[in-house]
Amino acid sequence: MSGRSADATSDHRFPPSDVDRLLGQMTLREKIGQMTQVEFGSITPDQVGEWAIGSVLSGGGGNHGDGSAADWRAGVDAYVEGSLQSRLGIPIVYGTDAVHGHNNVLGATIFPHHIGLGATRDPHLVEAIARASALETAATGARWSFAPCLAVPQDPRWGRTYEGFSEDPSVVSELGAAAVRGWQGTDLPASGVLACAKHFVGEGAMEWGSAGRARHPWIDWWDGWGEEWQIDQGNISLDEAALRSTHLPPFAAAVAAGVATVMACYATWRHVPLHAHHQLLTNVLKGELGFDGFVVSDWMAVNQIDADFEVAVERSINAGVDMVMVPFDFRGFIETVERLVVEGRISVQRVDDAVRRILHAKDRLGLLSGQGDEVPLDVVGCAAHRALARRAVVASAVVLKDDGALPIRPGEDVVAAGVALDDIGLSCGGWTISWDGGVGPITDGRTILDGLRTALGASIPHTADGSGSVRATVGVVAVHEFPYVEGGGDRANLNLPDDQVEVFRRVRARVDRLIVVVVSGRPVVLAPILEDADAIVAAWLPGSEADGVGDVLTGLAEVGGRLPVRWQHTMEQVRDNHTTELPEPWPVGHGRTITHRRTKETS
Ligand code: GLC
Repeated sequence: MSGRSADATSDHRFPPSDVDRLLGQMTLREKIGQMTQVEFGSITPDQVGEWAIGSVLSGGGGNHGDGSAADWRAGVDAYVEGSLQSRLGIPIVYGTDAVHGHNNVLGATIFPHHIGLGATRDPHLVEAIARASALETAATGARWSFAPCLAVPQDPRWGRTYEGFSEDPSVVSELGAAAVRGWQGTDLPASGVLACAKHFVGEGAMEWGSAGRARHPWIDWWDGWGEEWQIDQGNISLDEAALRSTHLPPFAAAVAAGVATVMACYATWRHVPLHAHHQLLTNVLKGELGFDGFVVSDWMAVNQIDADFEVAVERSINAGVDMVMVPFDFRGFIETVERLVVEGRISVQRVDDAVRRILHAKDRLGLLSGQGDEVPLDVVGCAAHRALARRAVVASAVVLKDDGALPIRPGEDVVAAGVALDDIGLSCGGWTISWDGGVGPITDGRTILDGLRTALGASIPHTADGSGSVRATVGVVAVHEFPYVEGGGDRANLNLPDDQVEVFRRVRARVDRLIVVVVSGRPVVLAPILEDADAIVAAWLPGSEADGVGDVLTGLAEVGGRLPVRWQHTMEQVRDNHTTELPEPWPVGHGRTITHRRTKETS
C-alpha cells in the first residue's frame, strides 16, 4: 500500500485546548471508558456514569418506550444525565442509525433510501434531507448518526445495495459530502449531529459466496441467519489501484467536508479484516487523507477479527479503531483493554490518540463546553420535512420505459393492483421502525395509491392480486421486494416472484395501457414483463411520502431521475458483466425525461 508511512497517531492535528487539559486529568480506566460504545439495553444510566462510558447507541430497531419522539427524548436524556454523574462529567454522545430520516422513531419523516437519492444526482436536495434528518434526530437528544453510507455497490445481489448512492464513485463522493454538510450543519453545537462516513473501505466490492460461516466459523450467531449472508461482510479481492480509484474517493470527499467520524467495514480486503488494517485505517485514512475525527468499529465487528477476543481487541485498536461498538459486554471490553495496556500490547500513546480524537469530536459538538440549542420535538415529522421528502420521491423516480403510456389523465378509467401500491412498510424498506423493516402501516405516511387518487381526483379500484374482469383504459401495477437489511437481503436470484408476474398478467389482459411501478432497493430482473409493459417506473424505496409517485404517473411533476446503477435483465448479466446476452442492461444514467407538466386544472 503506497501513501504516507508515518504513523498518523503520533501526529495529532488538534491545537492544545480543553481536550488536552481534560485528557491530562483522566485515569486509564476513564480513557478506556471513552473508547467504549454500548447498546442502551445492555447498560443503565447509572452504569454509564460509573464506567465513564463515551457513547451509548440504539442499534437497528432499538427504540425507547413506545417508540415515539417524546419517549426517545426521555430515554436518551436519561443516559446523558447518567454520564454527567461520572467523576469528570464528560457527556456521552448518543448514536443511532438515522439513515433515511430518524427512521427508528414512530412518526418521523422517512426519506427515500440512498439509491433513490442517487437517481436525483442533486447534492442540494441530499444536503437539505440530511439537515432535516439532523433536526429530527437532535430533537430526540441523539447527536450522532451512523450516516452517510458511502458504499459503491457493484453487485445488486448484495443486501445493502439500497444504502449506496450509486455504483459511480463520483456520484457517491458528491452526494456523500453533501450529506455530511447537511448532518453536521454550519453550527455543529447548535443543531448539528456528528456524521459517520461508513463503512471504510471497499464495501460493495465483496465477492459472492465469500461471507458468512466461511469467514468466522467460531461465531455461532451465524446459525440463525439462514442461507443469506453470502456477500455482505465478505471478502474484497480488488488490487490496490482499483480499491483506491473506486472506493476511496467518497471518503476523501467526506473528510474534506469535515466528517467527524468514520465507521470501519466488516469486510476483509484480501482476507485481512478491515477492522485490523493499520495501513488503511491509520496510514491512509488518518495519514494520507488527513482524517482528524475518530474511527468507530461496527457492531461486534472486533469479535470477527480473531477467535481470541484479547487478540481481536489488540489488533483493532492498534490498527486505528478509536471507539469500539462493543455493544454488550462493556465490562469485559474495558478490562481487556486495561490488561493489554498494562502488558504494553496497546501503548498509552495509542489510547491517548484515540481519546483525544473522541474528545475533539465531542468538543466540536459543544458537549464539553455545554453549548447547544434545544431542538423542539415538533420538528419530528413536521409538514416542511414531509414536503421535502415528497419532492425527493418525485426527483428519484426513474422512467425506465415509456411507450406513450404516461401520463395518466384525469377522467381516464384506471385500475390498480399490487400490494406495494398501498403499503407504507414496503415503501420504506429496511432500517424503518425495526432493523429489517416491516409491511403494512408501520408508521405515519402516504402510499403511492393515495397519491394517484389525489392527483386524479378519483377513487381508483385497487386489488392486491389484480383479480377482476372489468376492463379499463389504464392499469397501474406495482411489483416489489419485501423489506430486508444487511446480509439478510443477499439474494442469489433477483427475478420477479411468479405471483407478482401473475398479478401483472391479470391486469394486462384487461387494460389498454399498463404502467408498472417497481418498489425495490435495487434493480430486479423484469424480463417476464419487460416487453408487455407499456411503461416502467422505478420508485426505489420512496419512504413515508410515497404519494409523490402519483405526481410522476399523472404528469403533475416533471421527471428526470437517472439510473444510479446499471439495471440487468437476466441473472446471467448480474453474475457476469461481460456477457453479451440481449437485451443489454439499462446503463447508469438511463432514464426518460418527462417535461410535460399538467396542472391540476388542465388535463
Ligand atoms: C450494523 C451496520 C452498521 C450500523 C451498526 C449499528 O450492523 O453494519 O451500518 O451502523 O450495525 O446499528
